[in-house]
Amino acid sequence: MRKAFTLFLLALGLLLLLGAQPAMTIMPYDGRTLVAERCTTCHNLDRVERRFGQDLAFWERTVDRMLGKRNMLNDTERKAVLAYLVSP
Ligand code: HEC
Repeated sequence: MRKAFTLFLLALGLLLLLGAQPAMTIMPYDGRTLVAERCTTCHNLDRVERRFGQDLAFWERTVDRMLGKRNMLNDTERKAVLAYLVSP
């Protein structure tokens, strides 16, 4: 009985551990956080948010122009940022 309970606790712990993993791997690529961190070194967030509502073509053009000034995003981060900017 006690052994079964220990096993149950172990299984529960394992599930929690596995459940926490995806959140941890997605975190660095959260578009909103990336924009707040990387897009505010030259201008403030206001400059970005003023353009909310623009389409993907606008944001691709704009983000790539920003990347031309300084390479602040890798490819995966760029995609996450674009996904966020198109529907914030
Ligand atoms: C290296 C400095 C720098 C960084 C980092 C930077 N920007 Fe900019 N950004 C500028 C400058 C300079 C301008 C004004 C000239 C221009 O539009 O190219 C600007 C202008 C803008 C504009 C206004 C353009 C318009 O047509 O209204 C937007 C939107 C913008 N940036 C978004 C971003 C986003 C999103 C990021 C992060 C991915 C970012 N910026 C990171 C320098 C930067």
